[in-house]
Order: sequence, then structure tokens, then C-alpha cells
Amino acid sequence: MTGEGQGHAPVLCDEVLEAFAERFPGRFLDATFGGGGHSRALLEGDPANRVVALDRDPAASPRAEALQAAFPERFSFHDMNFAGLEQLEEADFSGVLFDFGVSSFHFDEAGRGFSFREDAPLDMRMNPREGRPAWHFLESADHRELVRVVREYGEEPRWRKIVAAIEAARGGSRLRRTLSFAELVETAVGGRRPQERIHPATRTFQGVRIAVNAELEAIETALPAAFAKLAGGGRLAAISFHSLEDRIVKRFFRRMAGKAEHAGDHRPEQLRARRARLLTRRPIEAGEAERRRNPRSRSAKLRILEKEAA
Ligand SMILES: C[S@@+](CC[C@H](N)C(=O)[O-])C[C@H]1O[C@@H](n2cnc3c(N)ncnc32)[C@H](O)[C@@H]1O
Repeated sequence: MTGEGQGHAPVLCDEVLEAFAERFPGRFLDATFGGGGHSRALLEGDPANRVVALDRDPAASPRAEALQAAFPERFSFHDMNFAGLEQLEEADFSGVLFDFGVSSFHFDEAGRGFSFREDAPLDMRMNPREGRPAWHFLESADHRELVRVVREYGEEPRWRKIVAAIEAARGGSRLRRTLSFAELVETAVGGRRPQERIHPATRTFQGVRIAVNAELEAIETALPAAFAKLAGGGRLAAISFHSLEDRIVKRFFRRMAGKAEHAGDHRPEQLRARRARLLTRRPIEAGEAERRRNPRSRSAKLRILEKEAA
């Protein structure tokens, strides 16, 4: 499959292609270009397919140039945040794809500060041209914000100890770098438990990354904008990697399909407008072979929505 040789295998690629194939040949928006695996697969899926791709990471532009060279008439790229999707000129897409989160490029480039495999400044910005680096966020966030980030975004049960350790470390050097911050979290929770599968700092890193990049806000804004940019009968596909992303997708999809958004949503049926059809009652997950080949796929959940014909 495309891209696998470089270690940046597009997740659930066959399943995405299958969802979009009924709209081939068509015009597709890949809102999270990354290494371009899904874009390439769509371009190769039909000789008349067109793809518009976006990524907020400036490092994605040079990767997109390779696809531009290979498919000059059919592929275009915008260096932008999908939170600004409304401003995109192109519209009437046959399909829009979101493959959320960070790419393996982010983890592999030590200098970006996403990973504690190597020492680097604790930055974690997908777009280093805007916002503030993670260390700055940790130095200045108020208590409630820190709790939200570690407890909610990091889904970290030991959040109290970690938040206290962050607050105590302010003004020193330990919040500045990936390794010293990972050590701080590990020490705060009393070290790694023997049966623990992931490093004790993994969840906290995830939470801080989500906050620094305002990831959930971007998804909330982008889904309705993407839906508006679909042609009648067009399909919206979203791949989530943790429950916070998936919850936003699930609720939005259910709302568009005229269904109760969650257990506490008791609005009567006639007050709900149905503008789409849910093609996935339950999310699609990676099969055994892909899970073995690509560990990142293990937490992936794909949901698909079809806009009603105009
Ligand atoms: C999981 S990767 C996508 C991988 C891609 N589908 C592939 O096949 O290589 C997610 C990409 O989306 C980008 N991204 C995340 N949030 C974004 C946002 N709000 N706006 C634009 N790009 C974003 C990241 O920079 C990253 O490159």
C-alpha cells in the first residue's frame, strides 16, 4: 500500500477508498495531508480524480510538491489550518477526509518536541509559526487549564500528582525539554509500574499536545465547514485516534443525521433536521493484519456520513 515503505502508512486506507469509490471519479478534499498517503491513494484510485489537500504543518509543503509534480493537473495543496476551512475557495467536494492528530513525521523529527525518545525543546506545535510552545504553556497555564489538559485531554487518572509537579517545577528548567519533562511526570507518579504498557508520561504528552495545538477546537469548527463544502450525496470520512476526537465526530454526525446526539438528548424527532445519512453505525476499525503492520492503526476509528442529495 502507498507510503508503507517509508514507514508512514496511511491508516484505514482501503476502507477510506471503499467509502469514496462510489463517488469516483470525483473531487476530494484531504484536510490532513501529512505524508500524503491518502491523497496519493485517491489520485491513483481513478485517473480522473482530483484532490485538494491541506496541512497546517509547514513541513508538509515540500512533501506535497512531490505529488504536485506527479499529478500537476489533478492535485493542489494549501498550507493552512483546517479550522479555517470556511475560507477555502474550492467547494462541492465528492468526499472530504480527516485523519486527525499528528503524523509519524512529527514524532520522528526529534527537534519538534513531540516525543521523549530524544531530548529536544518541549515545543509540540504542528505549526511552529503560530501559538506558543508547550513549555511556555506549562509555565503559564492556570490551575484549571492544567487540570483539564492532564485529566481530560490526557485521560490521565494520576492527574493530581502530575499537575502539582508541573506547578512546583515552574521557573526552573525541567519544563523546557522533552526528557526532563517526561522524567518529571514519571517521578510525580512514582515511577513506571511493572505491568504498565506505555511510559507514564505518554498520556500527559498527548494532553499537552492537544492543548498547544487547540486540536479539539479545530475539529469542532472544521466538521460543519467540511459538511457545507460537500456536494449533495458527498461523503465525509473522519479517522479519530482517541475518544475526545471520536466523541466530537460522533455527535456531529448524529446531529446531521437527525439522531439523538447523546444519551441525555431528548429532543423530539420532529425538531431534528435530517441532512445526512450515517453510513457507519459503529466505527470501522483496522483489521488484524493492519494492526500488526501498523501499531498506530490500533486506536483508529473511521466514521462516514453521506450528505443528502441536494
Ligand atoms: C495523521 S496525519 C495524516 C496522515 C495522512 N493521512 C497520510 O496518509 O500521510 C495528520 C496530519 O494532519 C495535520 N493536521 C492536524 N491538525 C490540523 C489542522 N487543524 N489543520 C491542518 N492540518 C492539520 C498534521 O500536521 C498532520 O500532518
